[in-house]
Amino acid sequence: MRIGVLTSGGDCPGLNAVIRSVVHRAVVDHGDEVIGFLDGWKGLLECDYRKLDLEAVGGILARGGTILGSSRVQPAHLVGGVERARGHVADLGLDAIIPIGGEGTLKAASLLSEAGLPIVGVPKTIDNDIASTDVTFGFDTAVTVATEALDRLKTTAESHQRVLVVEVMGRHTGWIALHSGMAAGAHAVVVPERPFDMDELTARVGERFEAGKRFAIVVVAEGAKPREGSMEFKTAGTDIYGHERFTGIANQLSVELERRLGKEARPVILGHVQRGGTPTAYDRVLATRFGWHAVEAAHRGEFGMLTALRGTDITMVPLSQAVESLKTVPADRYAEAECVI
Ligand code: F6P
Repeated sequence: MRIGVLTSGGDCPGLNAVIRSVVHRAVVDHGDEVIGFLDGWKGLLECDYRKLDLEAVGGILARGGTILGSSRVQPAHLVGGVERARGHVADLGLDAIIPIGGEGTLKAASLLSEAGLPIVGVPKTIDNDIASTDVTFGFDTAVTVATEALDRLKTTAESHQRVLVVEVMGRHTGWIALHSGMAAGAHAVVVPERPFDMDELTARVGERFEAGKRFAIVVVAEGAKPREGSMEFKTAGTDIYGHERFTGIANQLSVELERRLGKEARPVILGHVQRGGTPTAYDRVLATRFGWHAVEAAHRGEFGMLTALRGTDITMVPLSQAVESLKTVPADRYAEAECVI
């Protein structure tokens, strides 16, 4: 069998572990040939690839990022993109393509699959918002990095009797905010799923100081927004592709909290540090299992499917189902966090 693998969309710790696993299972156990497209779908569209053998994937298990590179290029956004992809798959004699990616990548994968290409998807995102899998690799690492940062920020916040508003990633969902906030014992967690009321948030932080505490930590997901009319709020505009920019909420929140509480407040944006560096053991294991199962699905001819974690088992789910909706933080999960913060 000849397999093409690619990593697309925002990178995430564990991508190299999947690539390594695909190569080990395919090359060593099945005698397959594996090629890796460079910079995501762009590599497939431009026929830019490299051969992946055991040597190519040596020593990458614990390495962050992706040895194949990534981009946000999507075949459907380019005129003739789908046909070009189909042509290259035929020219290269590929029997299977394994795209590893998040929401946007999986939508593209689903589209190409509907167009008849032999696709087995692998979900990834630090945001953990893909509905068809219980967990995506990268999430555990991001939460671990954010939690460590919050632990550190507590000590400096206390020294200066400050409010620190810490912005974590999460454009549409607040999983990283929820988990890191719970793990670090933050004093308020603000998520995109629940527009926040500025009066309520101010009262919550204010009560802490009134009770004699010397500092407060507020964790806010980058996509969080205030309830309509609750505070003046400016969006951060758009990027060069016209997509909404998300950083900025921590800045505005800290200014507003400082003004309302008369306490020093500072924003801290953790940003891409949450995506960089070595994956945790949990993420390495999940990524390795996904890679193994993707190769097995390809050998069974189970195309148009996605690897997914359900409980402790890896199963295959239809790609079309995987991209239907995002997994958001439900009210009861938020309530669990609220009662301990
Ligand atoms: O989807 C993963 C993610 O890390 C989001 O949490 C974040 O909003 C986004 O990617 C950032 O993307 P970029 O690296 O393109 O700025």
